[in-house]
Amino acid sequence: MNDMLNIALPKGRLGEKVYAMFEKAGFECPSIRETNRKLIFENEKTGVRYFWVKPSDVAIYVERGAADIGVAGKDIIMEYEPDVYELLDLNIGKCSMAVAAPKGFKDDPSRTLKVATKFSKIARDHYASTGRDIDIIHLNGSIEIAPILGLSDVIFDIVETGTTLRENDLEVYETVFPISARLIANKASFKFKNSLCEKILGELKAQTEVNDD
Ligand code: PRP
Repeated sequence: MNDMLNIALPKGRLGEKVYAMFEKAGFECPSIRETNRKLIFENEKTGVRYFWVKPSDVAIYVERGAADIGVAGKDIIMEYEPDVYELLDLNIGKCSMAVAAPKGFKDDPSRTLKVATKFSKIARDHYASTGRDIDIIHLNGSIEIAPILGLSDVIFDIVETGTTLRENDLEVYETVFPISARLIANKASFKFKNSLCEKILGELKAQTEVNDD
């Protein structure tokens, strides 16, 4: 049972794309395509066990060894700084970390800037590097509401298509860095299940060279 490779996939649209890459790499697990509420799927033939977890939890599973490998966004890796190996940029799940504000917002440097975010660490680091005095308001979702209700001046969040901003009369004020999905590995697993990890890494790497969405 422990010989199987445990793979944590981020639940949702990105996870579907990631699974498709693993499937193409030869690590298929047909039962995962069944529509049900199951969270764990395994294929003894290919030696893999997949499980769906909340995207922000993938790094925790991998760091603690409950998963040998997994796929997490660069945003999550930068926010939580898990002690894992970052093996590969999968070139999917591309978006940006950005500061957004109500249309026409002008920053007044003489005032503390109120920043609403799910990414408190990244936001703090960013503003520390620019020397801007800020007050972080940590939220867990629907960040876009904060400046509308006067809870914050700006938001520090992920922008993918920009639809959420547009539909809430916000706009990008500053793009901070690009984000994409990364293959990560537990450090001990990478050593003790090395040949399987390397095989997956090689196969996925070959696919990323042609992925450009
Ligand atoms: C993320 C992010 C934005 C939205 C951006 O939220 O926090 O709200 O996606 O995508 P868009 O530019 O394509 O509109 P998520 O879907 O993770 O939901 P959450 O706010 O509940 O965390």
